[in-house]
Amino acid sequence: MLTQIILIPSTSTKKFVLLYSKALIMHITKDMKMADAIHRNYLLLPVINRLGIQLGFQDKTIEKVCAENDLDTEFFLTIINAFMDTDDSFSERLQAHSVRDVVSYLLKTHTYYLERIIPEIENRINLLIQHSQLTKEEFILVKNFFEEYKKELYSHISLEEEQVYPYMVEIAEAYRKKSLSTELLDKINHYPISSYQKEHSDIEAKLFDLKNILIKYLTTPNDSYLRNRVLMELFTLEQDLSDHARIENMVLVPQIIEMETALLALKK
Ligand SMILES: [Fe+2]
Ligand SMILES: [Fe+2]
Repeated sequence: MLTQIILIPSTSTKKFVLLYSKALIMHITKDMKMADAIHRNYLLLPVINRLGIQLGFQDKTIEKVCAENDLDTEFFLTIINAFMDTDDSFSERLQAHSVRDVVSYLLKTHTYYLERIIPEIENRINLLIQHSQLTKEEFILVKNFFEEYKKELYSHISLEEEQVYPYMVEIAEAYRKKSLSTELLDKINHYPISSYQKEHSDIEAKLFDLKNILIKYLTTPNDSYLRNRVLMELFTLEQDLSDHARIENMVLVPQIIEMETALLALKK
């Protein structure tokens, strides 16, 4: 990955400091080797797994691996490029794919959080608690904070899986058929998708606070290894969650708002 490095003089020390600006990201293309995509950004590993691709792809290109796994190459490229780049053009390109496909990818990321990442972080926090000389108050603070975060994430995910995603798929289906039932009209009037838009901010804030407790407020450890491991997991989760929420807020919500408006116009 190319990185732009800016050298500026530090006024206090007269030394030069390096500032890394936003990485200049090279987009991943269908002719690139799948292995090279991973070398470029290892955080793509779980993203690729969720899309149904497992390791062991030798020197095959992305296009070949996608074909062998019966996966739409364009969809694959849009998802992984959107993950690596916050450029809105990838959000727009995702809108070209069906709401059902995007929702199905998001459901897999939920499973990954619930079955892999959260238990992993929980194990690491338990190890940290066992092997660090935390005071009783610190122990309770970390434990409670993590439990609260977990509760909030679980309830957010169940709201999406039980109500928001099925609603999105229903709207997309009605839009495709250009037909609006009385029940769906009632849902649009009472719980339009705009009412869900603000949902993510609390979860992001709680995760940020949890990281800050570990970074700023606990007794200085003799050995920082275990604490660093927990923090690295939390930073990785944060990046994954922010990509996930971006797809929900920037890809699906605007798309569903447009469909709701078009469906309401049918009744005028
Ligand atoms: Fe979600
Ligand atoms: Fe969400």
